[in-house]
Amino acid sequence: MSTNINAEEQPDLSALANLANQFFKALPGQQIKTDPVVGQAHEPVRQDALVESYEPWLYDQGLRNNSFDHSPPSASGVGVSPSAANQNNAVDLRNPQTSFADPNLAGPKPADSVQLPFQEDEPFETRLKEILNNVRVSSPAVRIPFDQDTDAPYYFLKNRNGVLNPKNIFDRDASRVGQPIAPPFDVNLVRNDFPILRERVNGRPLIWLDNAATTQKPQQVIDRISYFYQHENSNIHRAAHQLAARATDAYEGAREKVRAFINAASVNEIIFVRGATEAINLVAKSWSEQNLNAGDEIIVSHLEHHANIVPWQQLAAKKGLKIKVIPVDDDGQILLDEYAKLLGPKTKLVAFTQVSNALGTVTPASRITELAHQAGAKVLIDGAQSVSHMKVDVRALDADWFVFSGHKVFGPTGIGVVYGKEALLNETQPWQGGGNMISDVTFEYTQYHKAPSRFEAGTGNIADAVGLGAAIDYVSRIGIENISRYEHYLLIYATRLLKEVPGIRLIGTAPDKASVLSFVLAGYKTEEIGAALNKEGIAVRSGHHCAQPILRRFGVESTVRPSLAFYNTRAEIDTLVNILHRLKK
Ligand code: ALA
Repeated sequence: MSTNINAEEQPDLSALANLANQFFKALPGQQIKTDPVVGQAHEPVRQDALVESYEPWLYDQGLRNNSFDHSPPSASGVGVSPSAANQNNAVDLRNPQTSFADPNLAGPKPADSVQLPFQEDEPFETRLKEILNNVRVSSPAVRIPFDQDTDAPYYFLKNRNGVLNPKNIFDRDASRVGQPIAPPFDVNLVRNDFPILRERVNGRPLIWLDNAATTQKPQQVIDRISYFYQHENSNIHRAAHQLAARATDAYEGAREKVRAFINAASVNEIIFVRGATEAINLVAKSWSEQNLNAGDEIIVSHLEHHANIVPWQQLAAKKGLKIKVIPVDDDGQILLDEYAKLLGPKTKLVAFTQVSNALGTVTPASRITELAHQAGAKVLIDGAQSVSHMKVDVRALDADWFVFSGHKVFGPTGIGVVYGKEALLNETQPWQGGGNMISDVTFEYTQYHKAPSRFEAGTGNIADAVGLGAAIDYVSRIGIENISRYEHYLLIYATRLLKEVPGIRLIGTAPDKASVLSFVLAGYKTEEIGAALNKEGIAVRSGHHCAQPILRRFGVESTVRPSLAFYNTRAEIDTLVNILHRLKK
């Protein structure tokens, strides 16, 4: 389809920009700036406007060390979103906007590929994008309202004199102080990448606060999957034809992206599965079934999701194993001393979560792993709730297995990952047999491939593995450290406001938390709160969150659970809290 608009008939571009500005100006509580440098925020231009949101970065660079105003990394609406960066490089609309080289997407368009309908319109499209890029919506500068408080919710935010240390708000990792970090991102620009965030629910703009259940997908991921089916779809590793080669490259390219994302030593350590649940079942039904015997012990924590309890119970019933549970304190923190007492010569496996899905507690994963290894046990870490919120380094953690789901890290459903140490994977017999995982089959015997193929029997979820690769590109482009800092800021902000709602009880108050704010409200059933919020367009989960044991530890059967991602805003939290106040009136 061609537009047929010639140069004379095109609208005056500055008039268009003016109109757009007027439109955005009409939105409540937002300022408009037209800024020729949008999308180039990594350059030190307009220091006056940029300095606020660059503060943590400047601080780390040693360029500035006073007058910190506690703005979150994106508060002034500067920074850059992955798509804005692409647009700045005159993005090729024919290509999905993955940020790193993808062998199938680089270079000239394959001669036999389909012409996309907007191809002829590209110069016009590009110009229009430039205009829209110059319209910048920014929130007013943000102050954390409790910066003078003596009871900041997290002890590590304060220095030794009890004064809130602004740097800690953004940089929890002391080892990184003084290290260069990526400049901040702009939440408003990032939100543009997520089409579903423009949905309306019950007549209101959608506020997605159910990120612990699943995350939303950026356009880049949606486009990448669509591109796969339009240009690459084939089974992999088999037929010697062009599309099989494209699909194989895309699939194996995604494996490499996962490897780099979690810092595994080799792509042979990355197995694609359906999700974290299947991943844990794989370990339970292969290595554990092959190596554990009657009387052996498995340790899990009280925080676990049902997916990290039930497979072990099934195995225990089958083989006569014992399951022991690491207790938590009243804030929801692992009791390391109690854990140490559970370890012994019979302990063969410790399986625990890095971040609790119901409480948000971040567990001391390295220490738990170290103690388990000292006792001679293997370690499985459930990373379903951690990979999207913090840097994961499987080599630093030293886990024997680390598992996660693609859909919790802005990728598609139906794809997930088992990381396993290569030697361990190769000495484990596969749990499923079939095509793709063998090197030789007769009626008498079968020889298996090495990992990862030996654990990928049958045709896997090729397209969604590729989509997961695009999601990892997206997250990496923003920078997981930036995400972590911004979300932490939101978590502190939300915790503070929620604590002021009369009759609220926060469930899970560990100092080290990620993303999750579980609560109950006196006088209301959790499903009533969920319904009231839904009426206002707010999505939260209310229920037991597939983690009944830990909720019962706190004397409740269910909670309301808002959970955050990097595309959430302070304004969304304000709306949530206002509705809760209104309910209490
Ligand atoms: N495990 C997901 C959750 O916590 C479904 O909501």
